[in-house]
Amino acid sequence: MEEGAAIVADAQKTLGGALMKQISDSGIIHAIDYCNLNASGITAGISEKHGKTIYRRTLKPRNPENKAKGMEKNMLKVFEFAEEKEAKFKPVVRFDESDSSVYYYAPIVVQTFCLQCHGTKDNGLARNTIEEIFKRYPKDKAFNYEAGDLRGMWVVEL
Ligand code: HEC
Repeated sequence: MEEGAAIVADAQKTLGGALMKQISDSGIIHAIDYCNLNASGITAGISEKHGKTIYRRTLKPRNPENKAKGMEKNMLKVFEFAEEKEAKFKPVVRFDESDSSVYYYAPIVVQTFCLQCHGTKDNGLARNTIEEIFKRYPKDKAFNYEAGDLRGMWVVEL
């Protein structure tokens, strides 16, 4: 639990920090380009640093590579269940018999800051932003969120 939490904290800090810097240096449109080119590379860098594979999964992907598969879908359904019950989201550790691996899952929750790229046209998502996103992700499903919503989860292969 502790090891998973530490790796996720590092990933969140690194990715979030890079995103904040891009937005404040060059604006939202540039930051979309930056995420498009670098998000998976930054996550891969965290995997390498800790010697454990970490990635993000969601039921409503922007990048199709982040789409939840198999058991990942079930885990997201558990977090969605917690969301419906207005319960607190808590990370989960699970042993997978099929590959004898231990997985750590931590929910990713939308903050107000995220709405600039994942919100609705009424809560922060500008028209030119959505146009820019659809240019790179024609099948994007990762918008219409509100602060506090479940966006997806981090997965660490411990
Ligand atoms: C500047 C626009 C922008 C902001 C702000 C932003 N995102 Fe994203 N987000 C993106 C882009 C672009 C991708 C796709 C990255 C890729 O191609 O790997 C993405 C992907 C994701 C993913 C991976 C799953 C998927 O759908 O591909 C998660 C989870 C996510 N964002 C959560 C957040 C959260 C939480 C915040 C706020 C802390 C946030 N994002 C803020 C643009 C943004």
